[in-house]
Amino acid sequence: MSARVLLPWTDIDVPEELGAAYYDGVGAPPANLGDVEVYVLPYDRGPEPPKLIGELPSLRVVQSLSAGVETLVPLLPGGVRLANGRGLHDLSVAEHALALIHAAQRDLPRWFAQQARGEWAREHTRSLADSRVLLVGYGSIGQAIERQLVAAEAVVTRVASRPRPDQEVHGVAELPALLPEADIVVLVLPDTPATRGLIGPAELAALPDDALVINVGRGTAIDTEALLAQTSTGRLRAGLDVVEPEPLPADHLLWTVPGVVITPHIAGGSASFYPRAKKLVAEQLRRYVKGEELLNVVES
Ligand SMILES: NC(=O)c1ccc[n+]([C@@H]2O[C@H](COP(=O)([O-])OP(=O)(O)OC[C@H]3O[C@@H](n4cnc5c(N)ncnc54)[C@H](OP(=O)(O)O)[C@@H]3O)[C@@H](O)[C@H]2O)c1
Repeated sequence: MSARVLLPWTDIDVPEELGAAYYDGVGAPPANLGDVEVYVLPYDRGPEPPKLIGELPSLRVVQSLSAGVETLVPLLPGGVRLANGRGLHDLSVAEHALALIHAAQRDLPRWFAQQARGEWAREHTRSLADSRVLLVGYGSIGQAIERQLVAAEAVVTRVASRPRPDQEVHGVAELPALLPEADIVVLVLPDTPATRGLIGPAELAALPDDALVINVGRGTAIDTEALLAQTSTGRLRAGLDVVEPEPLPADHLLWTVPGVVITPHIAGGSASFYPRAKKLVAEQLRRYVKGEELLNVVES
């Protein structure tokens, strides 16, 4: 049977009607993909797998396993639907956001450095409990982060693109009034024209001294030079899983600023992701063969 679906893993149930081919994003893709209608992109494998989108003449659906799909949209041939991985990364990114917050609030880099020196020097630290957290981006991941912040007994203020008074969500236009009241700002925003540079010199200046800026959405939301200026004086601190540019060049000054913790865009990629991703793909294939509406469609 010719392959109507191209999958990144072999260990998922494929409906009988669909023959499958496999491409995990490493090395060359298989030959004879002319009948592929559904392409499930390998997750986090760089620029090669997306290039294949334009080389599949029968393609009807692209399933990405990422939540942010801004780089795929321009690659879609007309009439091809795109579904994203909304929800798959929620707990993984939420865990990581909390890890960055805890690392910064509880001074983990300092204790790790002391451990390396065999040094036992004690001091009390900041905490997350009772901190005022401004959560900018109250979508699928933002809500998962909130659940963990609430469990940690932080005080959360929600911000999204538009106000939703019934859910106590503020609109982004209220940021200037909200920033001065935040001990911690958590950004979990997509990369769009409206979010690019959302947190610039004026927004950073509006934060109180010693505030912590966390970014687990997209690096473009923060003006990197403005953040460098505010953290290198010690006025603000930061925990960043995403930065602009990525990869951050090895000689970039941000790497060495005390009070800045950086991880290389790995928040979404943990063990909890794969079983969730496989479950979504199996459900999408079931829906596809039955002619039912697909989940998570972002572009039609
Ligand atoms: N670090 C990682 O490894 C990693 C992993 C997965 C995802 N991500 C990033 O996380 C992003 C969010 O994912 P998600 O699944 O939570 O997306 P989502 O469910 O679509 O939620 C996005 C949230 O951002 C808000 N928003 C959009 N534009 C805004 C603006 N201009 N000002 C203020 N708020 C704005 C939306 O507001 P409304 O509620 O008003 O629509 C919504 O609350 C993804 O797009 C991706 O870039 C990063």
